[in-house]
Amino acid sequence: MTTTGKQLFTTLNADGKLTLEISEESFPEPTGNQVLVKMEAAPINPSDLAILTSAADFETADYSPGKVVATMPEPFLTGQKNRHGQRLPAGNEGAGTVVATGDSDMAKALMGQRVACVPGNAYSQYAIADAMMCLPLGDHSAEAGASSFVNPMTALGFVETARMEGHEAIVHLAAASNLGQMLNKICQEDGIKLVNIVRKQEHVDLLKSQGATCVVNSSDEDYMAQLRAAISETGAFLGFDPIGGGRNTDLVLKAMEQVAASRMTEYSRYGSDQDKKMYIYGRLDLSETILTPSYGLQWCVQGWLLTPFLAKAGMETAVKMRTRVQQNLTTTFASSYKTKVDLEGMLTKDAILDYRQMKTGEKYLVTPWG
Ligand SMILES: NC(=O)c1ccc[n+]([C@@H]2O[C@H](COP(=O)([O-])OP(=O)(O)OC[C@H]3O[C@@H](n4cnc5c(N)ncnc54)[C@H](OP(=O)(O)O)[C@@H]3O)[C@@H](O)[C@H]2O)c1
Repeated sequence: MTTTGKQLFTTLNADGKLTLEISEESFPEPTGNQVLVKMEAAPINPSDLAILTSAADFETADYSPGKVVATMPEPFLTGQKNRHGQRLPAGNEGAGTVVATGDSDMAKALMGQRVACVPGNAYSQYAIADAMMCLPLGDHSAEAGASSFVNPMTALGFVETARMEGHEAIVHLAAASNLGQMLNKICQEDGIKLVNIVRKQEHVDLLKSQGATCVVNSSDEDYMAQLRAAISETGAFLGFDPIGGGRNTDLVLKAMEQVAASRMTEYSRYGSDQDKKMYIYGRLDLSETILTPSYGLQWCVQGWLLTPFLAKAGMETAVKMRTRVQQNLTTTFASSYKTKVDLEGMLTKDAILDYRQMKTGEKYLVTPWG
């Protein structure tokens, strides 16, 4: 028996046209450890926007019901050459009800249950998911469970990474994000010192109202002085930057070095011997990453991605993290949404121009059945 339902696809062609469209699809019977989930809610996260909107021009795009065609400028068109011509599903994560299962015991145990899942095609009325990656939600709603994987596991992953690398303090940029608010709570629970960096006073206030003790505003004239003071007080020489473009990582490394250098008793032309590390884990700013020669030679900039981190951390750690998320879904790991849209609603001009801005507290939730 096949099940049919609507699903969103994104296609970028070599001629520069990016097409988002909803089409009627058939979903196969699940086999083995697979389950078929009737999707009820899925968030639009920045990583979803990387293939949904990327840098395309949605002001002048051609809109029709259930379909939009926009133009992708260079260098982003050539930069995404490997996807040219491919009709890709979208929506990393979401939640819904299991309506059919494969014949493994793990899959069968989920029949009829509401679960959070990571199918990769969550903007769809149905999705095939791996039972191993499904989180039973019990009495929680699909809305409460829709964002229970990507951001919670990443925020927990940062703390694990810090521990694995011997740090007790972290610097975090764009810290009022959905993920940043979770990290703020986790660090308080775990006794990790956190330097939160935001760019608006209202977000300083927001994080402080959630218990943060150290919040720095990058728009303030004395930003570097505030940052140095925060790094000196916390001893944070490890940071996570989701912005990527511009000088954000550069300025944090610079402040770290200035703090370390101020503690040196003897001058060295090579700078301090303090290890300084920044992980870039997002691309909120698509411009080039700028690094300047202002922090000696003892520094490192690296990428950070959830899936390879989980593989490295191992099954035991991943299960521990997952259990913590499940037990604190509506507190530490709660997500909020600005509004809900159905699949067609996702593809209207007003919605796209709004959710692609990725503003604090303005995440959209897709409810594929309306
Ligand atoms: N590497 C991984 O494995 C992984 C996993 C999960 C998430 N992520 C990344 O984590 C980041 C946060 O995700 P989220 O769902 O928590 O985001 P979100 O709730 O949508 O919030 C986005 C935040 O970014 C800020 N922002 C947007 N554009 C910016 C820019 N150009 N410069 C500085 N700040 C900017 C916004 O602040 P304003 O209100 O001031 O605009 C807002 O606080 C994203 O970059 C995402 O891709 C990465």
